[in-house]
Amino acid sequence: MDTFDIAPYTEKVLADVVAIERESFSTPWTSESLRQVGEMENSIFLTVTEGNTAVGFGCILLAAGEGELVDIAVSPAYRKLGLGQRLMTALLTEAADRRTEQIFLEVRQSNTPARNLYEKNGFTAIGLRKKYYKEPVEDAVLMQCRLTPQ
Ligand SMILES: CC(C)(COP(=O)(O)OP(=O)(O)OC[C@H]1O[C@@H](n2cnc3c(N)ncnc32)[C@H](O)[C@@H]1OP(=O)(O)O)[C@@H](O)C(=O)NCCC(=O)NCCS
Repeated sequence: MDTFDIAPYTEKVLADVVAIERESFSTPWTSESLRQVGEMENSIFLTVTEGNTAVGFGCILLAAGEGELVDIAVSPAYRKLGLGQRLMTALLTEAADRRTEQIFLEVRQSNTPARNLYEKNGFTAIGLRKKYYKEPVEDAVLMQCRLTPQ
């Protein structure tokens, strides 16, 4: 047994989520954007917590049977412990429970940890979005995962 749990987003962990976002991305989402996604009916926003602190999070936006995995990150000190995998499993399970047929995402071409995590979870590359990212400018790989209805 370890000390980590998967829990739905609540406003109590917003500050933790914002901190992880800033540590993880060169163009982080704002606190307001993250709060809005957390409060949307059509989102799945899960955190991995240690006690009262969130150490990772991930979110999927849902529409018309499809999902877009828009954000996933684990605090740098907690990476490589299996927490990103636990988040992915919980996100994909809830998406399937909510009748989502497929999930899409974009990822930096050079982001090997994330691409490996996605491939391990059934995502395949289906295209490239040229110069999609800024700071630094980089292409995005578009990935897709088909879910089995529950
Ligand atoms: C991607 C990320 C969420 C993975 O989280 P994590 O908790 O470290 O991942 P896990 O320990 O659960 O590892 C799961 C799998 O991811 C892949 N992976 C994770 N870290 C890796 C690394 N440094 N190098 C290569 N593959 C890696 C592996 O496939 C791993 O499975 P394995 O342990 O059986 O080899 C984390 O690296 C992160 O927060 N990165 C910064 C934010 C980011 O880039 N998010 C994705 C945006 S598209």
